[in-house]
Amino acid sequence: MKVLGIESSCDETGIAVYDTESGQIWQRLYSQIEKHREYGGVVPELASRDHVVKAAPMLVDILGEIGGTAALDAVAYTRGPGLIGALMVGANLARGLAFALDLPLLGVHHMEGHLLAPMLAGDSPQLPFVALLVSGGHTMLVEVRELGSYRILGESLDDAVGEAFDKTAKLLGLPYPGGPELAALADSVGHSRFEFPRPMTNRPGLDFSFSGLKTAALTIVRKNEPLDDELRAAIAHAFQEAVVATLRIKCMRALEETGYRSLVIAGGVGANRRLRSELQQYLQAAGARLYFPALEYCTDNGAMIAYAGALRLLQGQTDEGVSDVKARWSLESLPPIRRSTAEGVN
Ligand code: KG4
Ligand code: ZN
Repeated sequence: MKVLGIESSCDETGIAVYDTESGQIWQRLYSQIEKHREYGGVVPELASRDHVVKAAPMLVDILGEIGGTAALDAVAYTRGPGLIGALMVGANLARGLAFALDLPLLGVHHMEGHLLAPMLAGDSPQLPFVALLVSGGHTMLVEVRELGSYRILGESLDDAVGEAFDKTAKLLGLPYPGGPELAALADSVGHSRFEFPRPMTNRPGLDFSFSGLKTAALTIVRKNEPLDDELRAAIAHAFQEAVVATLRIKCMRALEETGYRSLVIAGGVGANRRLRSELQQYLQAAGARLYFPALEYCTDNGAMIAYAGALRLLQGQTDEGVSDVKARWSLESLPPIRRSTAEGVN
């Protein structure tokens, strides 16, 4: 089954086709970062307009590569959560195409796309597992007993971790979105004279809070202005260490509490090398295994939507009766995916 996946929930237009028989992926990805940079964040109206301009030509391009519309068997798109206007562009394109070609259509949960992204490389985590989803809009620990059945163990009570990276990067004068730049700066030094708090780690529970780190960064920046490159790197390093330690402590706690031996890390911040290596080291010592997507499938992309959609479409789940997109959408409300379907997919 060749499934088209359309992702347009925020500032990336992702169009991909995933073949469930061969595991082959064709994809195009366009990032609007340059459009939003001068505003220091994503401007929803500009995002929608740019998706309108870019999505259709990217779709035509990819259809040319796979042998035209006749090669498609189904269409999946991101139904939410995300920016309403941006989501509507992808949803309408998907609906129009599915209607014209008489193909099954399914709206996919963006975070399920992220969560299943490690499986795109054929590296399927052993069920049951815990997933750490870390992106610009979400930070959550999810218990996955069966694919499609999700229980949120903990989440951020304020800023998402990607948001904390981006806001702290802005304080350091780095261009938007500063997460990857801050990480590169942090990795350029081996230690720091600064120390950030590890929020909510000294009390029980699996929730997170990252807004305090941003305030801590602001206090250090104010005290040490004007910043030179060395100071900037020292602050970035201390910030990243605090985030990584906080996420690691909560991940280990979640594994301990559930008794599970597998951890999936996904979402944009999952691309962070320091976080990956820290988790790798601690999980190995605990006899557990870490799964993560290829770097290109960590941040928003169409392939993860095509894949998550394919698992559900294969067992007949479609958008029958669905007509809205969702700015907010609980991961826990999704119907399960039967395991036999997931196992039949490459
Ligand atoms: O999953 P994603 O592409 O989009 C959302 O669904 O939000 O995540 C984007 C977020 C941004 O906040 C970005 O700064 C952050 O992921 N990010 C990183 C790294 N790469 C992307 N944060 C820290 N280190 C990185 N290497
Ligand atoms: Zn995302």
